[in-house]
Amino acid sequence: MRLGFNFTLGETTPLVRRLLAEGRIDYVELLIDNFLTLEPDAIATAFPAPMGFHIMFSRFIEAEEAALADMARRLRQLIDRVRPLYVSDHVARFSHQGRQLYHLAEIDYAADYEQVRRRVDNWQQLLGCQVLLENYPSILDGGRDAPRFFERLCRDTGAGVLFDISNAVCAHRNCGLPLDAWLPVIDASRHFHVAGYNLSILQPHLVLDTHDQPLSDDTLAFIERYRTRFEHPGATLTYERDDAFVDRDIDADLKRLRTLFPLAEARLHA
Ligand SMILES: [Fe+2]
Repeated sequence: MRLGFNFTLGETTPLVRRLLAEGRIDYVELLIDNFLTLEPDAIATAFPAPMGFHIMFSRFIEAEEAALADMARRLRQLIDRVRPLYVSDHVARFSHQGRQLYHLAEIDYAADYEQVRRRVDNWQQLLGCQVLLENYPSILDGGRDAPRFFERLCRDTGAGVLFDISNAVCAHRNCGLPLDAWLPVIDASRHFHVAGYNLSILQPHLVLDTHDQPLSDDTLAFIERYRTRFEHPGATLTYERDDAFVDRDIDADLKRLRTLFPLAEARLHA
């Protein structure tokens, strides 16, 4: 298992460089939307390591075709130059009845299936590659339909899942979706995310995917229980942090992950 770190903001450049130099991570996941204006060569040489591409704001389910095609043209240049380990995106809603949402929202897995399937087909066509789709940290009961939705979507479109381990833990705690329901998705996935979560300010508390805390005990226990099922040749696990960049906490979490997935295996499968 190769370990990675998400790179979202220029200001974390020294942190990411240090993690690479100290061998704590093996690759970097770029939130590629933030770097679309850079020259492909500048992105390709930004870090002495492989990269993954994570797309945040394509809004490929609801965006207009011309806007998508324009973004895809730019992304294809970067994909051709950088040859990322994977290209990933989000199955989510960014607006409701014409109003822009402050936070991205979960789709209705039953009612929206056909629209999403068509849009995934189209987005992969425009990008010219397989797209991995990330599972959502569900809040509402509809989240219980997510595992079967992703299994069906991958079968129908050839897309994959970027399986976020702690998002599954959030969904489990918020709407009771058993972690085991994801096993077929995990078995078919090669690329993973993990992060800390936090409780909402308002009660009743929801578990929110905040990327600002150390990994929780239940997230680590989930990984430990299914360690061998996450571990595939070429597999990657990105540790996500978007706030509270406390070096000691980040190093400790990466060390825990490295203990679960020793480096020898990463080298063996590289
Ligand atoms: Fe994630």
